[in-house]
Amino acid sequence: MSNKNKFILAIESSCDDTGASILKDNTVLSNCIANQEIHKSYGGVVPELASRAHQSNIVPVVHQALTIANIEKKDLSAIAYTRGPGLLGSLLVGSSFAKSLSLSLKIPLIEVNHMQAHLLCHFINDKRIIPPKFPFIGVTLSGGHTQIVHVNNYFEMKIIGETLDDAIGEAFDKCGKMLGLDYPAGLEIDNLAKNGDPNKFKFPIPKAPNLNVSYSGIKTAFLNFVNTNLSKNKNFIKQNFNDICASIQKHLIQIIINKIEITSEKLNINRIVIGGGVSANSEIKKELYLRKKTKNWEVHIPPIEYTMDNAAMIGIVGYYKLLNKDYSNLNEISDPRLTF
Ligand code: KG4
Ligand code: ZN
Repeated sequence: MSNKNKFILAIESSCDDTGASILKDNTVLSNCIANQEIHKSYGGVVPELASRAHQSNIVPVVHQALTIANIEKKDLSAIAYTRGPGLLGSLLVGSSFAKSLSLSLKIPLIEVNHMQAHLLCHFINDKRIIPPKFPFIGVTLSGGHTQIVHVNNYFEMKIIGETLDDAIGEAFDKCGKMLGLDYPAGLEIDNLAKNGDPNKFKFPIPKAPNLNVSYSGIKTAFLNFVNTNLSKNKNFIKQNFNDICASIQKHLIQIIINKIEITSEKLNINRIVIGGGVSANSEIKKELYLRKKTKNWEVHIPPIEYTMDNAAMIGIVGYYKLLNKDYSNLNEISDPRLTF
């Protein structure tokens, strides 16, 4: 590959955020996101509405990313896009856009796995980020996935544990909904938990074999907890809001922390790298940093804008694939269940 700088346009449209980013090699020049507020009133993402919103957002968001980066379409060297996993209708909007633009500009098209991107965001050239050395234990914590991944190299990754049912972010969102919070509820639970007692209420620890986790049983346990207490005191939630949030948050985080500990011992790897929306959570940060001291863990947490769904993380994967000339063809189809 020539020494000339490469400009990569990255597109992310796997769920309800339309993202576009420009990278100059491994440095992010712009990282734009159009959030879809429409899902709030439905208490979750409505797939049909998400794909429609992507359709209207994608052109302005790409335009904005180019403008902020101060480059033109003709300067682009490659286009990276999310092939999966995600919602099919949403993925199709991003992939069709990326394919058409790469065809018209006659530049390489690069497909990216969204979950790998959540981990590889740690290789963005940014003064706040110290890239982890290989091998490491990658943990993806998002609204749709919870995975423990053995990472040996950029593209040598193996999922060695995952949720058997709901994702950790989904558990935050569903518990939040039961408390009357808007979707997505993770950040609000985190904020409310700051003034609460995390040890006030206890919940049962779900059983899951090996390095897997399970979060679906917690919904029922939490619903029973809320209903039982409300039947005794109709102001129970109001009077205990902060303590409930702190307690459920601690519980949800403890489940994954336990499995990370087991994984670390099993693989004899103490380098822990997290990614995905829930990696912004203050309790998981606290628990991981604690183990820096007690277990000598090396902990990598992304800057906030790279925790949530964003196109810059797609772009960094695009950069490494571009270095390897690992291009995709136009026949590659979006895959809602794409794995690795
Ligand atoms: O990675 P992400 O942006 O999208 C998916 O790929 O799913 O993750 C979104 C999830 C939501 O469930 C949201 O509630 C959760 O991340 N989340 C948080 C926090 N910020 C976002 N959960 C707990 N604490 C937070 N601070
Ligand atoms: Zn995600």
